[in-house]
Amino acid sequence: NASLKTFKIDYSRDRFLKDGQPFRYISGSIHYSRLPRFYWKDRLLKMKMAGLNAIQTYVPWNFHEPQPGKYQFSEDHDVEYFIQLAHELGLLVILRPGPYICAEWDMGGLPAWLLEKESMILRSSDPDYLAAVDKWLGVLLPKMKPLLYQNGGPIISVQVENEYGSYFTCDHDYMRFLLKRFRYYLGDDVVLFTTDGIFEKYLNCGALQGLYATVDFGTGVNITAAFKLQRKSEPKGPLINSEFYTGWLDHWGQPHSTVKTEDVAFSLFDILARGASVNLYMFTGGTNFAYWNGANIPYSAQPTSYDYDAPLSEAGDLTEKYFALRSVIQKFKETPEGPIPPSTPKFAYGKVALKKLKTVEAALDILCPSGPIKSLYPLKFVQLKQYFGFVLYRTTLPRDCNTPTPLSSPFNGVHDRAYVSVDGVPQGILARSTVLSLNITGKAGATLDLLVENMGRVNYGKYIKDFKGLVSNLTLGSSILMGWMMFPLNTEDAVRSQLGHWGGEDVRQHGKAPSSSNYTLPAFYVGNFSIYSGIPDLPQDTFIQFPGWSKGQVWINGFNLGRYWPTQGPQMTLFVPQHILTTSAPNTVIVLELEHAPCQDNDTEPCTVAFVDKPVISGTMAHSLPLKPV
Ligand SMILES: *[C@@H]1O[C@H](CO)[C@@H](O)[C@H](O)[C@H]1NC(C)=O
Ligand SMILES: *[C@@H]1O[C@H](CO)[C@@H](O)[C@H](O)[C@H]1NC(C)=O
Ligand SMILES: *[C@@H]1O[C@H](CO)[C@@H](O)[C@H](O)[C@H]1NC(C)=O
Ligand SMILES: *[C@@H]1O[C@H](CO)[C@@H](O)[C@H](O)[C@H]1NC(C)=O
Ligand SMILES: *[C@@H]1O[C@H](CO)[C@@H](O)[C@H](O)[C@H]1NC(C)=O
Ligand SMILES: *[C@@H]1O[C@H](CO)[C@@H](O)[C@H](O)[C@H]1NC(C)=O
Repeated sequence: NASLKTFKIDYSRDRFLKDGQPFRYISGSIHYSRLPRFYWKDRLLKMKMAGLNAIQTYVPWNFHEPQPGKYQFSEDHDVEYFIQLAHELGLLVILRPGPYICAEWDMGGLPAWLLEKESMILRSSDPDYLAAVDKWLGVLLPKMKPLLYQNGGPIISVQVENEYGSYFTCDHDYMRFLLKRFRYYLGDDVVLFTTDGIFEKYLNCGALQGLYATVDFGTGVNITAAFKLQRKSEPKGPLINSEFYTGWLDHWGQPHSTVKTEDVAFSLFDILARGASVNLYMFTGGTNFAYWNGANIPYSAQPTSYDYDAPLSEAGDLTEKYFALRSVIQKFKETPEGPIPPSTPKFAYGKVALKKLKTVEAALDILCPSGPIKSLYPLKFVQLKQYFGFVLYRTTLPRDCNTPTPLSSPFNGVHDRAYVSVDGVPQGILARSTVLSLNITGKAGATLDLLVENMGRVNYGKYIKDFKGLVSNLTLGSSILMGWMMFPLNTEDAVRSQLGHWGGEDVRQHGKAPSSSNYTLPAFYVGNFSIYSGIPDLPQDTFIQFPGWSKGQVWINGFNLGRYWPTQGPQMTLFVPQHILTTSAPNTVIVLELEHAPCQDNDTEPCTVAFVDKPVISGTMAHSLPLKPV
């Protein structure tokens, strides 16, 4: 009977009361947006078997409203089903609907289309921002209301905003607006809370009367001091660490982050021994499929894997950390009887030969069927209503460049990486904050192409307003380049049509790359592999490896697995969940290589990818060195 269900803060005894009984949660973070729906139940069950009584998830606004007013709530986006599934397994849910979530997720979950109004102040009481937020909350929160604990569902508490105190705006009116709207849509009974880092100035800006203030911290901090800070905002009520870090995030080009199991176990014991409630962030990290990763400033993008060194690996495998934390939890409460679902088997399907299909330039009619948008000066992605992936910027050389002439972005306006060619001859790359100038050669009137890649929007701090594309003018020598054509690329539809299948020889590549260049034109490669139905229990999960490849994007059977960049590392393999594979037909692999493919046009050296049964996410930075599996 729903009417008997209550979940409240007991201020007199510093605890929660669930149906009138003392309660504390031991929760784990799992982001449904980073897992295929196919695996939701497996991961939730493993979390339950570890002894958790709750899970915590973010709701990424941009995952559900990709374009203004266009909503996605089905299949992998079915957050209601995910919450129901947790409920069926006997797990409570702590919901974190943002609207900003950070999370190493593109733009911290805010939709890029907000930037169409360039002056908008995100995460503030800017009326245009509030109008968009309110419209979204008016769609999401009514779906959540029947899932609240009081209404017979599993949601015991709802977080408002996310670490708001560490954002520069410090706008209490914004937080008051959110409080009012959350109450309006969810009612007066639900526990609403905030989470902030353990600095007094963060709590001063992030906490608000009417929202229960909690803190977040990892291992190696003084836990007494950390909770003392929460007590400054909340003299009474349960102690709560809303993000106790089991691991840490990665960036391309930096070593893989790990946190020692002993340290996590030790701090978890300490937190639980104080009677506090805790959420382990992450319990299972998952994958930044497609283009969903975020980035930090100085610009550094996060890789495709969001393994996070969490107790369950990216592929959902049980780790030493899982069992160590389960043992800690067992000191405080019983864990469920019965078997723990085992790690899924992995299969090494072996090498697959890929053949060059088409360069991006040769496939423009398929990648951009509506044709280019023209403008004297370059337009940003949002002005083209292209939010993710790639835009090809094209103009012509205004004069002969017989000697190497600098093509430059004096205001660091290449966001984030441009693959440059002149008349089909690759010239090199321009890269945000690192390579602002590049020498090119070519004749007057030659076609200058820059394929510009959005590598993920900044998700934390004051630079989340992260415009993509050519966001300032380019110069050739000392003059500003003008007369641009911009081709926003619809990679997903093009890949699903297999770029109009074979044929369409690349006529644009007139000349060979200069011998000093080690770049090849950005191009699509395709291959396939069959999984013989004679072997039982296939398909199984696998990992794809890119021997000799440089940087790009990969799709299997039309599913966008994410970015690979083995020349940067530390991630060397991408997780391939079994549900995208099939035994009934050949599986199609499409690779968009942006920098340098390992094979030549004349087919003497075939390009291959390899499917292996072990992930490598902590590879060394230089690909010539041997790789160490994790
Ligand atoms: C931890 O913080 C508390 C409260 O601020 C303080 O009394 C204690 O000395 C600190 N412990 C250590 C080991 O620094
Ligand atoms: C471009 O070429 C000029 C002249 O050859 C040379 O001085 C300069 O260092 C080059 N710049 C880059 C970025 O390679
Ligand atoms: C490019 O330069 C032109 C002419 O100086 C200027 O009007 C325009 O605003 C610039 N565009 C960008 C994106 O900076
Ligand atoms: C070739 O490319 C790699 C990065 O992919 C770079 O480190 C190296 O300097 C380049 N070599 C030349 C000769 O351009
Ligand atoms: C699969 O790849 C082989 C070469 O490896 C090729 O002959 C065949 O046409 C491909 N099949 C499909 C369906 O693409
Ligand atoms: C194939 O192309 C590569 C690079 O352009 C070249 O080194 C090689 O000799 C070519 N092989 C044949 C058989 O033409």
